[in-house]
Amino acid sequence: MQIATPPDREAPAEHPIEANFRRRWSPRSFAATPVTGAALASLLEAARWSASCFNAQPWHFVVLRKQEDAAGFDKLFGCLSANNQAWAGNAPVLMLAVARTTFAADGSPNRYCWYDTGAAVANMAAQAGPLGLQVHSMAGFDAAKARDAFAIPAGFDPVCALAIGHPGPAEALPEALKLRETGPRVRRKQEEFVFFGGWQG
Ligand SMILES: Cc1cc2nc3c(=O)[nH]c(=O)nc-3n(C[C@H](O)[C@H](O)[C@H](O)COP(=O)(O)O)c2cc1C
Repeated sequence: MQIATPPDREAPAEHPIEANFRRRWSPRSFAATPVTGAALASLLEAARWSASCFNAQPWHFVVLRKQEDAAGFDKLFGCLSANNQAWAGNAPVLMLAVARTTFAADGSPNRYCWYDTGAAVANMAAQAGPLGLQVHSMAGFDAAKARDAFAIPAGFDPVCALAIGHPGPAEALPEALKLRETGPRVRRKQEEFVFFGGWQG
């Protein structure tokens, strides 16, 4: 099993969790190594087998591969915020995660469409580690521009952009980003968000 996570990026978990979860992180430095078609298919297959409300499977992914489709890649890159453009162009794959906002069966609103699309991305991220890949989600993108650029119809919502690839060295980043890339990995304590028996605000 190949997981290209530097030791200092491993989550300092306080309870035992699988290595795959400890070693998932959101890199900003990506190696030039391309993502193979087989690896990409595995990521999308992991997303496909996510759970969803009524098994509606609201997730959709527009996949842009830098080498194979430079124009498409540039189109999504052009929708990213300046902060994300500072690093995401080095990833060999960008994706746009899109949610169908209604149930196909009766057209009623699916209020779980974002939840389920996020879960599919989480499954994708869990599958990425063993392939030596990481998935970095980006809320910093212009959803209206992305809708326009990829002709996404009404009833579908651009949820998140994703940068995917093999992590690269932090040294390859500009100074400010390098500091973020190597800074401590932090999380709230379980006591702050887990309430046994009732809400404890
Ligand atoms: C929905 C979502 C949106 C995010 N948007 C951005 C973003 O626009 N730019 C960015 O650099 N990181 C973004 N991130 C990455 C988070 O900053 C990162 O997950 C968080 O700091 C925890 O770090 P880790 O993923 O390495 O554990 C996003 C993550 C998620 C889940």
